[in-house]
Amino acid sequence: MRKPFVAGNWKMNTDSHSSVDMAKRIALGSLEIASHSVTVAVCPPFVYLQTVAKALSASSIAVCAQDVYYESKGAFTGEVSAAMLKDIGCTYVLCGHSERRHVIGETDELINKKVAAAISGGLLPILCVGELLSERKALQTSAVVSRQIKNGLAGLSAEKVSAVTIAYEPVWAIGTGLTATPQQAQEAHDLIRKLLAGMYNGKLAEEIRILYGGSARPDNAEELMAQDDVDGLLVGGASLKAEDFLAIIRAAA
Ligand code: PGA
Repeated sequence: MRKPFVAGNWKMNTDSHSSVDMAKRIALGSLEIASHSVTVAVCPPFVYLQTVAKALSASSIAVCAQDVYYESKGAFTGEVSAAMLKDIGCTYVLCGHSERRHVIGETDELINKKVAAAISGGLLPILCVGELLSERKALQTSAVVSRQIKNGLAGLSAEKVSAVTIAYEPVWAIGTGLTATPQQAQEAHDLIRKLLAGMYNGKLAEEIRILYGGSARPDNAEELMAQDDVDGLLVGGASLKAEDFLAIIRAAA
């Protein structure tokens, strides 16, 4: 059975005080939720990763970076390597979040290098995929998501891919208040799992966790999690309130 996984993506929000305060409140609130029943991670901005990791060190909550660079060191001004993230206590890293694809302009090829570098550096990547509204309307959801998965994982062995979590996040649902219906989420997750079975093997496809993201909230978490192939939630806006995030964790556990 796949263990449910809830990750809170804080994006470019919080400050030095509120990031640690929120981490502590989430750690305290999740004490009553058995850590063996759900994996929980928070994704603070780079500059607060270390203090948040320290605040969470006695808890079971993992720290996830929002991005990573694929080179291991050198003259890459402004970038951060997997080894650096590992060094300060990160376990996970988001790769190819929709805002990085569509606002910053990251390509499948770049994201693939990041996924590979994360795994080599001992991090567990969360590869984010998802279609634009125009692509869904043009019935291209399956083609777009398949391309992003194939290119994002290109060249990686089944063994390496077993370190990966997938997050299906339809772009039209991110930060818009529009959530995919549980059925739309299930359809996409089922497609992804079948694709992974074809690319690797059935066992790997059954084991890999596929999270849904896009306006996940306390009031829709349970119905999304009730879908067979929805193994967790990548939460943006609702992860910025400790109480809402804890409610989502409870719904997923
Ligand atoms: P949202 O963001 O929950 O605010 O829609 C999700 C995400 O971008 O991961």
